[in-house]
Amino acid sequence: MEQRILGRTGRSVGVIGLGAWQLGADWGDVAEDDALAVLGAAVDAGVTFIDTADVYGDGRSERLIGRFLREGGAGRGLTVATKMGRRVPQTVDAYRLDAFRAWNDRSRQNLGVDTLDLVQLHCPPTAVYGADAVFDALDTMVEEKRIAAYGVSVETCDEALTAIARPNVASVQIILNALRLKPLERVLPAAAAAGVAIIARVPLASGLLSGRYDENTVFGSDDHRNYNRHGEAFDVGETFSGVDFGTGLAAVRRLAPLVPDGATTAQFALRWIVDQPGVSVVIPGARNAAQAQANAAAATLAPLPEPALATVTEIYDELIRPQVHHRW
Ligand SMILES: NC(=O)c1ccc[n+]([C@@H]2O[C@H](COP(=O)([O-])OP(=O)(O)OC[C@H]3O[C@@H](n4cnc5c(N)ncnc54)[C@H](OP(=O)(O)O)[C@@H]3O)[C@@H](O)[C@H]2O)c1
Repeated sequence: MEQRILGRTGRSVGVIGLGAWQLGADWGDVAEDDALAVLGAAVDAGVTFIDTADVYGDGRSERLIGRFLREGGAGRGLTVATKMGRRVPQTVDAYRLDAFRAWNDRSRQNLGVDTLDLVQLHCPPTAVYGADAVFDALDTMVEEKRIAAYGVSVETCDEALTAIARPNVASVQIILNALRLKPLERVLPAAAAAGVAIIARVPLASGLLSGRYDENTVFGSDDHRNYNRHGEAFDVGETFSGVDFGTGLAAVRRLAPLVPDGATTAQFALRWIVDQPGVSVVIPGARNAAQAQANAAAATLAPLPEPALATVTEIYDELIRPQVHHRW
């Protein structure tokens, strides 16, 4: 798999990684064996970057990754990024050194490591990005060797730009996909210029860009694609990228003719992100081993031709931009 440098961490990672939210909760039940099979299939297919969070299944995702590391994964050159901050009410005051240490102890225990490779603030309140004390505390965490590096997972492009301007932010995780183009305007160029990693999340728009859903698709009551459609539980941008389901289906139908022979719609969607200058790693979530394997294989597709890239922008401008561009 193509390797890229993960920003200021200096680490090299395969350009397709794995998002491990599905191994926690909020996507319906993923049994423990299936979760371990997802990790195994991804790593066998060349994935070396795994994204998780302390809040996914209240630690289940981290603990499963910890088990995978203990049972042989540790020797396979992996970079595991976790997140912290969303297990408490969201105030700037909650983002303090003593809290960071406590959250860090829990994640290190869950993952079974002394030093976490990369810890990201998990979509904190916007004011956190302007708080020097928060970033001083993160620097202390690095000095204490609790974490090797830190980054942020952001909701908006403005938050990303503020974070990129800070000297020791190693990575920015942001929603970027064929239905979310705004980061291409300023965030990706700024990150590239500063040497900050871009971790592209929700690359399949929560599965919409797999082309598998239609108007009759029903998601379970324990799946955020059912219970968070209108932002009832968390930022609606995290569910279908904030695109109304019907509009998303219409856009994906128009993208279908662009899919190269021999590739799936999901692989096309992932390749589109890989082709964007400034992207370090793309982190599709997978519910089973077959999805993880197919996603990793998207890295081997040829770069998409210019007319296909232009058509993606055209479809975005026409159908999607009015819904999302001003929001995130
Ligand atoms: N605030 C944050 O920091 C934040 C928020 C969201 C996500 N993330 C991270 O980003 C990762 C990726 O985002 P995401 O998981 O929300 O969304 P995503 O990657 O856009 O979509 C994942 C869904 O796409 C479908 N899928 C995956 N691979 C497929 C394939 N090969 N063929 C067909 N369908 C496929 C599956 O849907 P089915 O379930 O229908 O099979 C899967 O559950 C997460 O796992 C998490 O690590 C972070």
